[in-house]
Amino acid sequence: MIDAFTFQMPTRLVWGSPAAEAVSAEVDAFDAKRVLIVTDPGMAATGVPDEVRTHLESRGVTVTIHAEVSGNPTTDDVFAVRGKAEDCDGEVLVAIGGGSAIDTAKATAMLVANGGEYADYQWGGRPITKRSHPFIAVATTAGTGSEVSKVAVISDPSQPFKKGVLSPLMFAHVAVLDPGVTVGLPPHLTAATGMDAFIHALEAYTGKRTNPLSDLLALESMRLIFASLKAATIDGNDLDARSAMMLAAVYGGVAMDQAGLGLVHALSGGICSHLHLHHGLANAMILPYALDFNVHAIPPERLQEVTDIAGLGRGAHGDQLVEVISAFVHSLGLPVGLGEHGDRVDIDWDEVAAESMRMVMVHNNPRTVTLEDCHAILTSMRETQVRQ
Ligand SMILES: [Fe+2]
Repeated sequence: MIDAFTFQMPTRLVWGSPAAEAVSAEVDAFDAKRVLIVTDPGMAATGVPDEVRTHLESRGVTVTIHAEVSGNPTTDDVFAVRGKAEDCDGEVLVAIGGGSAIDTAKATAMLVANGGEYADYQWGGRPITKRSHPFIAVATTAGTGSEVSKVAVISDPSQPFKKGVLSPLMFAHVAVLDPGVTVGLPPHLTAATGMDAFIHALEAYTGKRTNPLSDLLALESMRLIFASLKAATIDGNDLDARSAMMLAAVYGGVAMDQAGLGLVHALSGGICSHLHLHHGLANAMILPYALDFNVHAIPPERLQEVTDIAGLGRGAHGDQLVEVISAFVHSLGLPVGLGEHGDRVDIDWDEVAAESMRMVMVHNNPRTVTLEDCHAILTSMRETQVRQ
């Protein structure tokens, strides 16, 4: 018996290389002549946005580049991009980057179509009634999944915690997927963003809102990541590994969007708003602890599927899975636990726990989570000094 479910993913996926050519073809399909590219300074330095601009300009399209999106985007970023979009009368927004650039463009595209201020939607409960302004996402990391999700996570500096804005009307119209643009991603970011993708798949597969389609994608995502993330981290030019990771990130992103997340992302939301860690890095540090908390609440047949993927074979138990996952994180050069971050005395850990409990994903976690549980896990993470 399969429980009722819905699956909605309207984004057109374009697997194409080079990305510049694929973007031009998609802009042509919108019959657009003015484009705003939204990216961040690091990505701008790689030259990819300029390649896209050159290609578009060769087809008679006027291009403006906004290359100032911050690492943890705020409503100030959305305000700035919206201003640029109005100034250049951009008919299509093209985000080039990881989650920060894509979420900023996604939030702006919603706002351009629906009007008002971002706070109206983030805090005021104003309904989103119109499909976003045309928006193409070029994913340059294999991890975030934002290119195939309906949520934008933007910080509001006037508020004490992050709150996402989501709507089925906010999906990117097009996601351009070119593994070639991830070749320049340094090893630590390859590892951290790849672990984020793995956790999207794992949390989608073990949460309470699973469905048969998200399960397919989540399992294949985890398989691909176990097989390819280490290779992509060690040799960034390994295009087979990069391709597998880009596919895995899309699968994990769709699974996450359709089936939800869990405790890792809830804790990382609380931690990152205070420590400003990279999202994927924080998730990797948390994963073994959250999995240790959850593992005995995961239905046995689902646990078996994951232990198989992890190479543990039939009959493996949950504690072994925690050990293997922890070793996998270490093998990528990433830390487990909070290490030196746990010694930071200026962090209000009670507030971190409280913020984690405010994250909606705690309700999708396979095991019921209490405030005391969050405290206990955070304490355990702080006491761990293991780093690789
Ligand atoms: Fe994530």
